[in-house]
Amino acid sequence: MHTPSILVSALALAQAAAAAPSAMPRQAPANCTNVQVFVARGSLEEIPGRQGKLVDAVCKDMPAGMTCGSTDIQYPATFDAYCKSVGSGVAFALKAVEDYAKACPDSKMVLTGYSQGAHLMGDVLSGAGGLIPNQNCTQAKTAPLAADAVKKVAAVTLFGDVRHTGNQTYNLAEGAGKSGILPRVGAQLKDLNVHSNKIHSWCNGQDPVCSSGNDMDQHLTYFDQFTPDAAAFIKSKL
Ligand SMILES: *[C@@H]1O[C@H](CO)[C@@H](O)[C@H](O)[C@H]1NC(C)=O
Ligand SMILES: *[C@@H]1O[C@H](CO)[C@@H](O)[C@H](O)[C@H]1NC(C)=O
Ligand SMILES: *[C@@H]1O[C@H](CO)[C@@H](O)[C@H](O)[C@H]1NC(C)=O
Repeated sequence: MHTPSILVSALALAQAAAAAPSAMPRQAPANCTNVQVFVARGSLEEIPGRQGKLVDAVCKDMPAGMTCGSTDIQYPATFDAYCKSVGSGVAFALKAVEDYAKACPDSKMVLTGYSQGAHLMGDVLSGAGGLIPNQNCTQAKTAPLAADAVKKVAAVTLFGDVRHTGNQTYNLAEGAGKSGILPRVGAQLKDLNVHSNKIHSWCNGQDPVCSSGNDMDQHLTYFDQFTPDAAAFIKSKL
């Protein structure tokens, strides 16, 4: 049977197009977004917690054609068995971020954490593990986020961080010069600070968690105070 050559070319093109997805690297989820926000909630919050407001602010008004989504870090977020809670959050986040970077190589990632969630997101970047004296427990050792994934992380926002360390270049708000419950020292501080230019960390001056203060309300209001600033920072890094 004679087939017009124009139709043959069209068929070949259609087949090439159909074949293309399986030739793509890894198994990219059909819904890889341009911007994916990984959210680690604070202690005792329900998913997504107070940071839901920030995710909404980041994802609304994306430039035309850009898609945005979020992934909640699944972990207990309890004070009980704190080392297990935060350690399992670090492990979940490391895997989720590394897997996403492989499956969606063209996506940019944002990491955000509040309170215990800020502790774990910082640990994802710095590597972690060791004694947490005020909880009298030992957190499992983990390596820093793999370099291939780090490259895809555009911005990191932390709020009321358990591991807030005074006078770091990325500290913001009145608690900037103060340290929290478990400040970073040594290699963990050095390894976090490799990423200084991607990080903003907000700490209120009387927050008991990040600045050794005594006003719990100051720990609970970050997303009423700083959501627009944080969303603007994130967008500036995309
Ligand atoms: C894709 O969308 C589904 C359904 O909304 C969701 O469960 C899944 O986590 C998404 N995958 C990614 C990589 O965003
Ligand atoms: C800390 O934990 C250890 C082992 O579980 C226990 O023996 C010790 O009494 C605890 N110390 C404090 C101050 O709670
Ligand atoms: C931060 O710097 C100020 C001014 O030098 C100093 O008073 C404060 O103790 C420092 N904070 C910490 C946690 O070292």
